[in-house]
Amino acid sequence: MTVDASPDGPTAQDRLVDRFGRVHSDLRVSLTDRCNLRCTYCMPAEGLAWIPAPDLLALDEMVRVVRLGTELGITEVRLTGGEPLVRPDVVEIIGRLTGLPRAPRLSLTTNGLLLAALARPLLEAGLSRVNVSCDTLSRETFQRLTLRDRLTDVLDGIAAARDAGLHPVKVNTVLMRGVNDHEAAPMLRWALEQGVQLRFIEQMPLDPQQGWNRAMMVTRAEILDRLARDGFHLAPLDVRGAAPAEEFAVDGGRATVGIVGSVTNPFCDACDRVRLTADGHWRSCLFAQEEADLRSLVRGGADDEAVKAVMRGEVARKQRGHGIDEPAFRQPDRPMSAIGG
Ligand SMILES: C[S@@+](CC[C@H](N)C(=O)[O-])C[C@H]1O[C@@H](n2cnc3c(N)ncnc32)[C@H](O)[C@@H]1O
Ligand code: SF4
Repeated sequence: MTVDASPDGPTAQDRLVDRFGRVHSDLRVSLTDRCNLRCTYCMPAEGLAWIPAPDLLALDEMVRVVRLGTELGITEVRLTGGEPLVRPDVVEIIGRLTGLPRAPRLSLTTNGLLLAALARPLLEAGLSRVNVSCDTLSRETFQRLTLRDRLTDVLDGIAAARDAGLHPVKVNTVLMRGVNDHEAAPMLRWALEQGVQLRFIEQMPLDPQQGWNRAMMVTRAEILDRLARDGFHLAPLDVRGAAPAEEFAVDGGRATVGIVGSVTNPFCDACDRVRLTADGHWRSCLFAQEEADLRSLVRGGADDEAVKAVMRGEVARKQRGHGIDEPAFRQPDRPMSAIGG
């Protein structure tokens, strides 16, 4: 992406650009660190020390930071968490963001538990798309993986999102060795039947239990191999751009499957993402060791230009890559659920 100024967009020096020339237009906003599941690769059974309510950005504060982001070239906003749908004001948040002068395109990542009831109100408030996380089609495995017996709710949520027209519905699947790694092909068959786009995600070292083990991770190469052995013909599509998933056409048809090979095939060179945590910290990367405290600035009365300067500065400092495969790699202090996945 080049650093051009558009007639009514931000000027080149107002954009979120880092030392490597990457221009940032995609913002992940975490609405909460709380969750109604306990996926074992993400959260311990007892949950975490949740961010205290007074530390969460109030709705107006969050909308202001997103507005400033749009003035710096943010055009895509994905709401995530924790579980974003546990926020009682999620529909209102979407309505407010849709009403911004430079309204970004809005999507949301959810575990789907509350989606059946919310799909239509979310769409009507201005949401464009959803990604729903579902790692298995087996009730027993779902319970083992998430510590909750809620698979039916997730499947109902996926169907409701598709039927409401939140198109395309993408389903995120993390495979874990010895748990659900035999489900790659059945999950793809199911996704094709349901008319949803499946994306496999390599497991990353972001769990608070620090239990990630590279040898246990099911790799992009293994997933491709398993799908091929089960009879799928996958042809790579050259459409990745800044998107994390590589897309493959399935069996010569129009349906696709994606693989997010964050560890073995990182997409850092094309990364265009920044993140806002639920407690108002601005991060240039999931794996960043540093973040900027925008909440204190906003609550301290900083004007728009001062907040924007900090937002730009944090992006300018962004590291070239996450370095998971380097000996000096250190997991960030915040787990995935508190950053916003
Ligand atoms: C952190 S969750 C937040 C949104 C929502 N609760 C959900 O599960 O979709 C976002 C995505 O991150 C994925 N995820 C969580 N921990 C992960 C890890 N350690 N490595 C890779 N993906 C992970 C989840 O499977 C989910 O698809
Ligand atoms: S992956 Fe999503 S649903 Fe699962 S525990 Fe983490 S935040 Fe909750």
